[in-house]
Formats: sequence, structure tokens, C-alpha cells
Amino acid sequence: MASGRSPIGQVTRGTTGTNRLRRVDRWIARHPSLRRAPEPLVVDLGFGASAVTALELWARLARTRPDIDVLGLEIDPTRVARAESQLADVRAGRTPFAAAPRVSFALGGFEVPAPRRPAVIRAMNVLRQYDESEVAAAWSRMAARLAPDGLLVEGTCDELGRICTWVAIGPDAVPRTLTISLRLTGLERPSIAAERLPKALIHHNVPGERVHALLGALDGEWDRAAGMSPFGPVQRWEAALTALRDSGHSVAERSRWRLGELTVPWSEVAPG
Ligand SMILES: C[S@@+](CC[C@H](N)C(=O)[O-])C[C@H]1O[C@@H](n2cnc3c(N)ncnc32)[C@H](O)[C@@H]1O
Repeated sequence: MASGRSPIGQVTRGTTGTNRLRRVDRWIARHPSLRRAPEPLVVDLGFGASAVTALELWARLARTRPDIDVLGLEIDPTRVARAESQLADVRAGRTPFAAAPRVSFALGGFEVPAPRRPAVIRAMNVLRQYDESEVAAAWSRMAARLAPDGLLVEGTCDELGRICTWVAIGPDAVPRTLTISLRLTGLERPSIAAERLPKALIHHNVPGERVHALLGALDGEWDRAAGMSPFGPVQRWEAALTALRDSGHSVAERSRWRLGELTVPWSEVAPG
């Protein structure tokens, strides 16, 4: 762990990929923490081996907030240098991205060195390679940098972005919700999400823990909704989530169910 003026955290594998974070970006795009923010700054913390997910984040969010700035932070200086060179290619019109993105890159870690308080910090696939005991301190450091109504979005996904989960955390470092977002076409069982749970939950998917009970109940309702399959996986998912809610789970954000999403209050999954 670095100290002093070095970025806080550790260099980990830089795996990333085009379109990988589309599900979480869509969710951030509509979130009030972004939509209501004056002069919104969004930080992509731990952007990885390429500039691509930071550039995509800007492109997706600028559709609703053209005044948005994205700052990509990385603890590995060689990755910052590579991203800056890729950004030069973008500005020169040598890529499919718009030539004038409001995106910049800098060296930084959990201390989040940013010119103003971010409305949103997105830290995807960063804590996965840390120890669970390091999660709370990382959340606290990042959350302490947020704007008063800001949001930290911390989670994990698979390489193609078809299985994605994230926790939304407020400026007080208290987790508020867990979202699971799945590609429904070809989905066998929703508990596939267990492999990609955020670090704070992945080791708690065992009998007796809330997250295990939730995934089990979700699988059960998905199986019971099999009769909806001829109408398509979206209808089957909506039927499963309706039944889950009717059985007493606090399933929120109904308007987003059709996207393969499920958002629950943190209290539904908090480790016991
Ligand atoms: C697996 S990559 C994820 C890339 C991208 N966010 C994604 O989801 O595709 C994780 C990156 O986070 C960086 N990282 C790890 N800890 C960090 C920290 N404390 N601050 C900034 N970057 C960090 C690693 O160096 C690595 O490049």
C-alpha cells in the first residue's frame, strides 16, 4: 500500500474491453446524482489498460449531460501515459469517438485527486483483486471525495459485460443498493451473478447469508416463470421479479426491469 503523495492502492491486472461497462453506464446516466449535479465531474477510477471505458462513459453520459467532464484515474503510470496517447488519437480524429470529448487522464488512487468534488465515481473491477478486509477503507476514502449528493458505484462484471453487479454508496460511505444486471437472452439461471458479486459480497454467498437467500429466491422465481419463455426472456424476468417482490423482497426501480436489472436495498443483501 502506497503512502504520502503516492496514489493509494495497488496496481492490479488492467483487463478491460470495449462496451464492457455499458450496463452500469446506462444506470449512472439516469441517476439523480448525475442528472441534478451542477457542473458534473465523473471519475473513472482504475480505468485499466486502455482509455476505452472512460471515453465510452463520457459518450454515454454526455447524451443527457453534455456539460459533463470525465476524469480517468489509474494507479499505474504506464496506463495513464497510454490513455493520454490514445486520447491524442481521438482528438486527431483517428478513432470512431467524437474528436472533442471532455475527458482527461491522471495518475491517482483511492484518494481521488480531482479538480472538484465528483458527482459520481465509477470503480468497476478494481476491488475484485483486493482482499475483502480492504473494501471498507477504500469505500470510505473514495466516498469522502464525493460531492454532497454524489455517488460511488463500485462493482464487478464479466469480460463481455453480460453479467454485472454494483453497489451504490453515498458520501457517508454507507452502501445503499445492490444492482444485478444480466443479459437475459440465453440466461440459464440468475444466480450466475454470484461469480461476479462485488468484493463486499462475493465471499458471503453461502447458506445463512442474505445475498445467498436472495439469489436462491431469484432462481426459484425464474424457474417458476419458465412458462413465460415463449413470450421472451424479458417477460420471464419481469414475471420472476414481480413474484420476488410479492414474496416480500424490496425490489426497486421497476421501470428498469426490462433491461435485465434488479436493484434491492443494501439491507436485503448485507452480510450478517
Ligand atoms: C481489471 S482493471 C479494470 C478496468 C476497467 N475499470 C474495467 O472495468 O474494464 C483494474 C484496474 O484498476 C487499477 N487500480 C487498482 N487499484 C487502484 C487504485 N487504488 N486506484 C486507481 N486504480 C487502481 C489497476 O491498476 C487496473 O488497471
